[in-house]
Amino acid sequence: MPGQRRILVTGATGTVGRQVVAQLLETGAEVRALTRDSESAGLSDGVEVVRGDLTDPDSLQASLKGVEAVFLIWPFATAEGMPAVLEVVAAQARRIVYLSSAAVRGHERQAEQLIGRSGLEWTFLRPHAFAANALRWAEQIRTEAVVREPYGAAAMPPLHERDLAAVAVHALVGDGHIGATYELTGPEILTQAEQVSIIGEVIGRPVRWEETSSQTARQQMLARGWPPAAVDGILRAQAEMVIEPRATTATVGEVTGARARTFRTWASDHAGEFRAT
Ligand SMILES: NC(=O)c1ccc[n+]([C@@H]2O[C@H](COP(=O)([O-])OP(=O)(O)OC[C@H]3O[C@@H](n4cnc5c(N)ncnc54)[C@H](OP(=O)(O)O)[C@@H]3O)[C@@H](O)[C@H]2O)c1
Repeated sequence: MPGQRRILVTGATGTVGRQVVAQLLETGAEVRALTRDSESAGLSDGVEVVRGDLTDPDSLQASLKGVEAVFLIWPFATAEGMPAVLEVVAAQARRIVYLSSAAVRGHERQAEQLIGRSGLEWTFLRPHAFAANALRWAEQIRTEAVVREPYGAAAMPPLHERDLAAVAVHALVGDGHIGATYELTGPEILTQAEQVSIIGEVIGRPVRWEETSSQTARQQMLARGWPPAAVDGILRAQAEMVIEPRATTATVGEVTGARARTFRTWASDHAGEFRAT
């Protein structure tokens, strides 16, 4: 892959963006990392950290100067505000790689349509469930070695953030990805209870799945301040995955040339977050 390109990474402090930044640096690209708080971004040397907010398109102007390609995450539940952001992006950059979702909910479909009409060269990444979603169990595992949730039998192919980022990097700096929509998964289908069991094996401490009711889970998520529509969407998706597990795709391997990482590898990479201190 050719290097020496200037790329803007949004969501650079997040699960996926941090990996995109790290892997872009390895290609020799010049990386600009966008954050709302440059003081606490904690990004490595060699990255130009720039302040900007996706809700304020003007704040992105400076960060886009001389940028050829943009990795865009859109961490909002609506596509409102995206046209103005795309206008600012298209005035400077040529290419955009958008982190969509395999669920392609209304706002994600709308975002894809807006990007399709923006005049930018685009690639859409549609990942299924992130392996990193398991981090929501970390505290329960550290303190009690038990996970209490509904739908332990919900089955999915969890995707390592490093593999998602690797596909993003190919699309940002490589050839042959313009106009592609990539549906991305990990290599194996696992139930949530199986994921918890693998985490236990990796940390050397058995971890138990304890099934709770979806009503209890709903109340707990609402009490944490999650929007009711999001809570219902997550629980509905999990209920569906009990009956019809999401299938795997071979796309990570096809794009990167490397086999997608297993959930066990992901759990090993994050074992420190699950071990009791
Ligand atoms: N979890 C899944 O299973 C799954 C599956 C498919 C798709 N997705 C999609 O993945 C995306 C989340 O990716 P992630 O997990 O890597 O993110 P994350 O770890 O939750 O981090 C969120 C990032 O968004 C940035 N951000 C938030 N508000 C912002 C704003 N107003 N302006 C600029 N940046 C802002 C944050 O940057 P600062 O705080 O530094 O500004 C941070 O880097 C979502 O769009 C989600 O729909 C997730």
